[in-house]
Amino acid sequence: MTALAQEPVTRLASRSSVMRFLNEVADDYPNAISFASGRPADAFFDLRSWLATVPEFEARFGSRRLGQYGNTAGIINDLVAEQLGNDEQVLCTPDRVLITAGCQEAIALCLQALCRNAGDVLAVRNPTYIGATGIADLAGIGIVAIDHDESAASLQAAALRMRAQGKRIRAFYVIPQFDNPTGTVMPLAERQKLLDVCAAERIVILEDNPYGLFGFEGPGQPPLAALDEQGCVIYLATYSKTFCPAVRVGCAVVPETLFGDRDAARALYEELVGRKSFFAVNTSQLNQALVGGVLREERGTLARLIEAPRAFYRRNRDALLEQLQLRFGALGAIWNRPAGGFFLTLELPYAFEANDVVRCAADSGVIVMPMSFFALDDSQRHRVRLAFSNLTPEEIARGIEALAQYQP
Ligand SMILES: Cc1ncc(COP(=O)(O)O)c(C=O)c1O
Repeated sequence: MTALAQEPVTRLASRSSVMRFLNEVADDYPNAISFASGRPADAFFDLRSWLATVPEFEARFGSRRLGQYGNTAGIINDLVAEQLGNDEQVLCTPDRVLITAGCQEAIALCLQALCRNAGDVLAVRNPTYIGATGIADLAGIGIVAIDHDESAASLQAAALRMRAQGKRIRAFYVIPQFDNPTGTVMPLAERQKLLDVCAAERIVILEDNPYGLFGFEGPGQPPLAALDEQGCVIYLATYSKTFCPAVRVGCAVVPETLFGDRDAARALYEELVGRKSFFAVNTSQLNQALVGGVLREERGTLARLIEAPRAFYRRNRDALLEQLQLRFGALGAIWNRPAGGFFLTLELPYAFEANDVVRCAADSGVIVMPMSFFALDDSQRHRVRLAFSNLTPEEIARGIEALAQYQP
């Protein structure tokens, strides 16, 4: 575990260039099979049916009102609160829900509201989603790397170390369910320990859960927000993976109390709303009308809508595991078996980094994401992230065969 209070300016350059680099490789090799991007399967984008629910929403809400500037906090908060309670075990009232332009805006608002003083630090598991660390870079917020498996103990130790340096960990960003990039699930016991550490250290957990509804093996673990009795979890949700990314609708749910303080929780909510009013004024009401229209039609649950995509992702996960066994079983590689979500970690017997991405695309016709792109140190050099969400089993088979033939 390393990467204490890293250099924000240096990281900004490297992380923002990662995204550009990947886009360029994909453009340069359009026929390569790509395991790089965690896109939802576009075969399930039912735009016509979803758009058909908008007139009903519009009739209830009022056409002129819908077309106007709107409430910064959102107009579908009641429907979202109902769906989160029904599907994600997150019980909340609409006045604790802030509707955002995707989860990405929610992360940005929360991080900047929580880490506002010099010396305020963000903790993240290493490796983690680059969208969170990228925002910390932009805002000049220092990042501390936390051990992936022993998060609670590692966070406790980091809190002590930071205090000794006159700094404070204010927020811990984490994806406990079907993590991006690793595809892992945080065990229940670790969740409980984490909540205790965060309550004791007054660290706000930013729980990001875009993939939680895509579990392949029965009901998964309850979200941290559902276990939180001490008021330390802000829950972040999105409709990008359950509907489609183009809706750009997500939310942040502020706890009822912040570490037991009801007024502090309200003040934090108001602060987030105030910040959003300057960034985006409000989340597009037309996009909210689409999400709201579908939620109304589906009676407050996405259970029916996600059935087919979840079966598709599961089939792809199984195809990927089968191909890895076939092609990499004898090569000294190891991988995990994701219980849900879009991603799997493959550990190769050799280092796989940026130059390998280009050579592998050119020589073998396959694009994979080095795990080092998500890392805060050099511990991930042999690992790659394989996204299996937007490929067919045939493409997975061809892609893994090609990857196995790549000569580093
Ligand atoms: C972990 C995680 N958080 C947030 C996002 C961004 O979500 P949104 O499209 O809702 O902004 C993604 C997108 O891939 C993600 O994987």
